[in-house]
Amino acid sequence: MTFSPSCIVLNGSSRAFGNTKTLLNKMIQVLEEPFSSEIPIVDLCTLNITPYDYLGRNTGDDFFPLIQRCLKNFETIVFATPIYWYTVSAYIKIFLDRFTDVITLYKDLNEKLEGKKISLIVNFEGMHQETLRSVEENINSIFIHFCRYLKMQYKGAYFAHINLCISDQEKVRRLFS
Ligand SMILES: Cc1cc2nc3c(=O)[nH]c(=O)nc-3n(C[C@H](O)[C@H](O)[C@H](O)COP(=O)(O)O)c2cc1C
Repeated sequence: MTFSPSCIVLNGSSRAFGNTKTLLNKMIQVLEEPFSSEIPIVDLCTLNITPYDYLGRNTGDDFFPLIQRCLKNFETIVFATPIYWYTVSAYIKIFLDRFTDVITLYKDLNEKLEGKKISLIVNFEGMHQETLRSVEENINSIFIHFCRYLKMQYKGAYFAHINLCISDQEKVRRLFS
């Protein structure tokens, strides 16, 4: 019997095999088979996805095939990002901006947004507790508003220091489901 995972992971790190990927692999190990070996991870830094363009001159880049794959085949998109300068990586921000193309240019995909789920995995290296709290609030707020506007469901975020082990396995399972 073939198994189709319900989620796809988009890794927003600037390197395909950095700390974000290490964290993702640790998290995926928490999931049971056949989940753990089947979840696709797409490294955004290996694709050509350019910033939003009002004139739609970048419709031929890698965004459309990827968003089409995400929305047609999966219930949940898991964004994974390192913290770069107190916020999500540029790869994630560019990808979020390009959802504007979905609602303005790709009408058939637009219909598929409603009810889709988004989860977020975040890793960071060194922030004071208070700074971390405000960064968490800001990032959560971006995704809460983004999902509300697009009628998607935000399942929440897992913020993990790179050296820490995964303490809340139940939460990991929920974010990847
Ligand atoms: C450009 C840049 C900016 C960063 N800014 C922060 C930051 O604001 N707060 C923090 O805790 N770590 C920051 N870091 C550290 C990264 O979040 C951390 O090393 C992370 O694990 C890197 O993941 P990666 O290997 O997938 O890029 C920054 C790293 C880089 C390269």
